[in-house]
Amino acid sequence: VAIIAALTTEFSEYLQAKRALVDDYLGRLLQPGLGIPPSLLEAMRYSLIAPCKRLRPLLVILSAEACGGTDQGALPAAAAVEMVHTYSLIHDDLPAMDDDDLRRGLPSSHKRFGEAMAILAGDALLTLAFQVLADGLPSRSAAACCRELARGAGPAGMVGGQIEDLAAERDGLAAGVHSLETLKHIHASKTGALIRAGLLMGAWVARGDDTDGPDAALLQALDNFGRCFGQAFQITDDLLDVEGETARIGKRVQKDAARGKLTYPGLLGTSRSRREAEALCRGAVNSLAPFGEAGDRLARLARLVLERTH
Ligand code: IPE
Ligand code: IPE
Ligand code: MG
Ligand code: MG
Ligand code: MG
Repeated sequence: VAIIAALTTEFSEYLQAKRALVDDYLGRLLQPGLGIPPSLLEAMRYSLIAPCKRLRPLLVILSAEACGGTDQGALPAAAAVEMVHTYSLIHDDLPAMDDDDLRRGLPSSHKRFGEAMAILAGDALLTLAFQVLADGLPSRSAAACCRELARGAGPAGMVGGQIEDLAAERDGLAAGVHSLETLKHIHASKTGALIRAGLLMGAWVARGDDTDGPDAALLQALDNFGRCFGQAFQITDDLLDVEGETARIGKRVQKDAARGKLTYPGLLGTSRSRREAEALCRGAVNSLAPFGEAGDRLARLARLVLERTH
């Protein structure tokens, strides 16, 4: 037990150090004097620098390290995926979408700055993300990362999933029936696609400008890991909406059922949902076999997701 506790402390300190690197890098990307109107800069920073888990940047960094890269080389990709994620949260909270007034422990962007500014702060983070990739990476990995991020965030990825999430909410109120297949597809798109993009970007920043690029088997392993991890992560997000506490998660709870959202606990109940998340976590860890020991940290992060309380 003592050994496991020590390992856990060491790992959480490791993650904390990587988060600090990401926070510092993000802060430098969003400084005054870059030609951004001060009111827009304030709104961008408000959501981006707020307290949060930085899970997607950590996935980029851990993936890059597993592929033999460095955290410094991974920072542009880590920052870019966090900017896109933060934009997705700002827009997700808008009255036309989930209509949430609390995010990352603070009033949602539109509550604090108004809807027009929230929409534009989201747009600004989305577009700046691609500039950060283009400016910060060597040309071949920049192009690959732009492609992966656009694919993950775009119409066949996160945005498509958000559309299906909202459609299921409306249909569900009318019909009251949904299939698990629909739900899995929504989770894979709205949440899984960006997570997979982060993992693949990690491989590209580590190896993208080598002559042969990233190893195809490792890219496939990361993609498999991301599919399981993304699904498990959104199940735990749905569970926290039912079982979590606002003070810990920094957002309102019990909102999904109230809105008629299609969720795992709504469809399967909480204990089956938790078992499903555990099985997905095992699947995620098994996907890392081609990495050998180099995949240990990614495996630990997957296990942490199961235990998370925020
Ligand atoms: C919330 O993401 C939205 C989902 C896709 C589940 P996170 O739970 O990673 O939120 P932050 O980034 O820590 O605020
Ligand atoms: C969010 O799913 C997915 C996104 C792409 C932002 P949710 O709507 O469940 O996320 P929260 O619970 O508001 O963070
Ligand atoms: Mg939503
Ligand atoms: Mg939401
Ligand atoms: Mg949620």
